[in-house]
Amino acid sequence: MSLIIRVDPVNFKPEDLFPAAEAVKSGKTVAFPTETVYGLGADAFNGEACLKIFKIKNRQPDNPLIVHINSFEQLYSVAREVILEDKLKRVWPGPLTVILKKRPEVPVEVTAGLDTVAVRMPAHLVALKLIELSGTPIAAPSANISGRPSPTSGKTVIEELNGRADVIIDAGDTFFGVESTIVDLTKQPPTLLRPGPFTIDELTSIFGKIEVPPEATGISDFERPLAPGMKYRHYAPEKDLYLLVDNSLLPELVRRIDRKVAFLLTEENYMKVKDLARDNVTFIILGTEYNLYTVARNLFESLRKIDRLDVEFAVIQSFKEEGIGLAIMNRIRKASGRKFIRFYPF
Ligand code: TXA
Ligand code: MG
Repeated sequence: MSLIIRVDPVNFKPEDLFPAAEAVKSGKTVAFPTETVYGLGADAFNGEACLKIFKIKNRQPDNPLIVHINSFEQLYSVAREVILEDKLKRVWPGPLTVILKKRPEVPVEVTAGLDTVAVRMPAHLVALKLIELSGTPIAAPSANISGRPSPTSGKTVIEELNGRADVIIDAGDTFFGVESTIVDLTKQPPTLLRPGPFTIDELTSIFGKIEVPPEATGISDFERPLAPGMKYRHYAPEKDLYLLVDNSLLPELVRRIDRKVAFLLTEENYMKVKDLARDNVTFIILGTEYNLYTVARNLFESLRKIDRLDVEFAVIQSFKEEGIGLAIMNRIRKASGRKFIRFYPF
């Protein structure tokens, strides 16, 4: 059994986190909340401790971890060349990970042998306090078994990792629900590696021109992995998931389909089609078209729900690839394994 610590995400006492900080200091693993998704962490300067994360998650050893910091002093302890510091001060704490040249003290287990390191300062009080009390940066990937959707609630982390992680901090739901934006600052211009809650418009307003390779959005079928982790199957439910490329097909599809199926859609689309469905159809409402951050927040838990329902497969609507919609579609494309529906297929 893991030690489970339940705290309010804002009104918690530092003492509540002492056992978690002790665990980090003694080379153990701790699952903790961030503003994006939960992470599974260990002391970023302890290679052996970080190796445990790979074992627990069944993660490929060539897929490096993100180092979580709570101060700029810690940034200097992991990064050799800190560029654009004034700009980083404007975005952190926040859901942006940057790639910088690493210091030799960062163990190979964390960076998978690269000469760069991924760093971010999470905007979550529990994460920041845990790092402070541990007295060390914390290396952490998302707290899921590799290939599964990232956990966005303490409950899901417990389901996924109880008995595997030494400590699990449950602080309820995360805020954004999709992982941080990753931008490579060792490239000129800075290059997007993974879209996330920190949007391209926001990136541009801080860093100026940003390179957005088609592979980073997931729109391109060209499968050159930009970050080592991008070549692996991701976010996927066990059951088949199809992306509906054209949402105007939704009414016809819902009316005619005779298999047991789940539709993942916005409230607005649900209102359009709910009366057309028979009882072989289950609807999962993701959020509202008017604020796609609501969809981001519910996406991963909804993907997990598909496997618990009595359905054969699931169909998810598409979203405009702008703002947070870019990150949402990127995760959906990966979760669906690029299976899509362009016309009425059955
Ligand atoms: O929001 C997040 O970023 C969450 C929370 C826990 O902070 N973490 C997260 O970690 O999503 P993970 O491991 O699931 O994704 C890290 C990604 C991987 O695709 C990995 O390949 C990439 O970051 N990465 C790590 N270090 C890198 C480096 N030096 N160069 C390029 N990509 C790197
Ligand atoms: Mg992950």
